[in-house]
Amino acid sequence: MNKILKVLARQVFDSRGNPTVEAEIFTKRNSARAICPSGASTGTYEAFEKRDKNNKKYLGKSVFNAVHLINTKIAKTLKGQNIHNQERIDALLINLDGTPQKKNLGANAMLAVSMAAKKLSAIVKKKPLYQTFLVKNNYKLPYPLMNIINGGAHANNGLRIQEFMIRPDCAKNFAEAMRVCFVVIKNLYELIKKKGLSISVGDEGGFAPMINSNNQALDLIVSAIKKSGFKNGKDISICLDVAANELFKKNKYSIHSKKYVTVEKSIKEYIKIIKKYKIKSIEDPFEENDWNSWNKLMKSVNKIQIVGDDLYVTNLQRLKIGFLNLSSNSILIKLNQIGTVSETLDVIKFAQAIGFKTIISHRSGDSEDTFIADLAVGTNSNQIKTGSLARSERVAKYNQLIRIEEQLGKKAKMNKI
Ligand code: PGA
Ligand code: ZN
Repeated sequence: MNKILKVLARQVFDSRGNPTVEAEIFTKRNSARAICPSGASTGTYEAFEKRDKNNKKYLGKSVFNAVHLINTKIAKTLKGQNIHNQERIDALLINLDGTPQKKNLGANAMLAVSMAAKKLSAIVKKKPLYQTFLVKNNYKLPYPLMNIINGGAHANNGLRIQEFMIRPDCAKNFAEAMRVCFVVIKNLYELIKKKGLSISVGDEGGFAPMINSNNQALDLIVSAIKKSGFKNGKDISICLDVAANELFKKNKYSIHSKKYVTVEKSIKEYIKIIKKYKIKSIEDPFEENDWNSWNKLMKSVNKIQIVGDDLYVTNLQRLKIGFLNLSSNSILIKLNQIGTVSETLDVIKFAQAIGFKTIISHRSGDSEDTFIADLAVGTNSNQIKTGSLARSERVAKYNQLIRIEEQLGKKAKMNKI
């Protein structure tokens, strides 16, 4: 009953219309499937994403080789394994691949299988997915870090900073958190329209108006928060993902304007906008190898959440370096940066043990799969970053969290910010 009978994969499409891997696993009576997401501003140290570079019919983007590997080697290896033994399933995948960066099988092949196994185990146990991770009771809902203006690699408007987000700190429950974000987004829509700017959205559902100064975007957000009747910095916090890998050249950064300036100058500018806009969280403020600049920023700011995404790539070794170097106080968690569910859980466990905040994240290329909503609750993660209230691949995760909150009923609580 608990044995894996069959593993099957197919090529499907993600939210950007790019091919991606879907894996499906079968036991005698049940089956489950999962879709691997895909990033645009990826870190160098992320696990490898396998694409058929030479398949001109799909402009080099198809994943038929990854699909084939699942249908052959992976299927053969996992057949007969106990579906509830996630660690063994993941270890078999890691051994079969045999490389540090998952170059042979591809992390996209491995993760789709790993997530499908986790889902199927929950189905067989007749448990909601969120109840099968690390937390056994006292489930808590994460605060959404809702992306409302897109820039950087996720839009073509020339905004230096990639993601401008709001966090509804005043919300006492998840449904209310959604309402607060909803109201601000609707007011922001009106403000953007009034200015005669486009109200079209970027890859993660946030607006992508043709403005190119960070301050202009931040002013718009502050106005929308005010117009909604909330207090910036109290009811709602503005949070940023700079994705500074994309803004780095010869030890200089072009974060605050097109001009490349020193780390010291960049930090001064950070401090200015933190004060002016009451910013509470900054992700990837510096480049992925620039550990010391991260540490300098940590020493220069007070009570600001500094989040490592490309810096850590959900990799335990890199997180340990960051911890010893005092590079940040939070970590972004993306399953496909490391390639298996078990390794992801190990990183979350370690991060929580050293007092880091954990933030579960989508990718800019995502799908209808809502695995990360359950993962956020099931790992007691403080926040979730899964785009705006637009584009169904983003909204699907929020809707799943609404369902989980409803299921928990009176026992449901919000996590610590
Ligand atoms: P990505 O962006 O999925 O394109 O890497 C998300 C992020 O940088 O957090
Ligand atoms: Zn990021």
